[in-house]
Amino acid sequence: MKDLTAIVKGNEEIAEKIYMLTLELTEDVGAVRGGQFVNLSVGDGSMLLRRPLGVCKTDGRLLSVCYQVKGRGTERLTAAKEGDELKVLLPLGNGFLLDKYKNIAVIGGGVGIFPLIATIREHCADKNFYSYIGFRNKSAVCLLDELGKSKSLTVTTDDGSYGIKGNAVSAYFEDVNKPAADAIIACGPPVMLKVLKRELKEHGVNIPCFVSLEERMGCGVGACLVCVCKKTDGENARVCKDGPVFDINEVEL
Ligand SMILES: Cc1cc2nc3c(=O)[nH]c(=O)nc-3n(C[C@H](O)[C@H](O)[C@H](O)COP(=O)(O)OP(=O)(O)OC[C@H]3O[C@@H](n4cnc5c(N)ncnc54)[C@H](O)[C@@H]3O)c2cc1C
Ligand code: FES
Repeated sequence: MKDLTAIVKGNEEIAEKIYMLTLELTEDVGAVRGGQFVNLSVGDGSMLLRRPLGVCKTDGRLLSVCYQVKGRGTERLTAAKEGDELKVLLPLGNGFLLDKYKNIAVIGGGVGIFPLIATIREHCADKNFYSYIGFRNKSAVCLLDELGKSKSLTVTTDDGSYGIKGNAVSAYFEDVNKPAADAIIACGPPVMLKVLKRELKEHGVNIPCFVSLEERMGCGVGACLVCVCKKTDGENARVCKDGPVFDINEVEL
């Protein structure tokens, strides 16, 4: 893990209120796994807490994250322009560990698609991904070229303005022709992951399913305990350090 100064190379709106920020790192950080994240300053000294963002793409020392404008921090980030300097701590968290699997179903929604894209990019040469991706509506649809590196891609929108009307979880379970997968990876809003867990149980699906969780974070490195989540064995886990990727049966959703 390194704490670096990064130079902004680009910061463009790729869908409504969703930006892709590309940074040039001033040092090598080694391989960054899909599902790992960065803790990024937003370019305003009065906002001390950095924001956790999943890594979406890496290419040598270039690293891209995509962020949805939510509150003050991400709003401030939209002002970052080429040549600006931002502090970035990375790589953080465990990421998706997929060595044992070959055929992988991908279920993603909202900003959860970005770490999934990094994972598909990392492994698409030697693994098959079958992706079910949900967006709010047509104006939020983005990065289909990246998602299209999957062997198959099903896109849904809540209002049916693009792709199938519905959500990614229902698209997965309703796909009667879905290829057999030996693992599932998922990232999306808490309600999506909760429904996924319930549906897996109801359909008696017992292949491994790994989910990336999103919790409010402070330090991002396991020290402040802001991000603690409950495990099904009654213990606590720090999403930043023990996760953000967990076996779906290991955590309360
Ligand atoms: C591991 C991880 C990966 C993430 N990856 C992405 C991503 O790729 N793209 C993306 O758009 N968003 C991602 N998020 C969510 C993103 O961190 C929040 O949307 C962002 O921090 C909101 O900041 P804000 O200042 O605009 O909002 P505010 O609500 O003003 O933030 C106030 C404080 O709460 C924290 N906070 C608010 N919402 C969240 C949240 N959902 N998760 C964590 N901290 C939060 C902020 O970091 C800040 O410290 C990720 C979160 C986690 C934990
Ligand atoms: S954010 Fe500080 S322990 Fe996880």
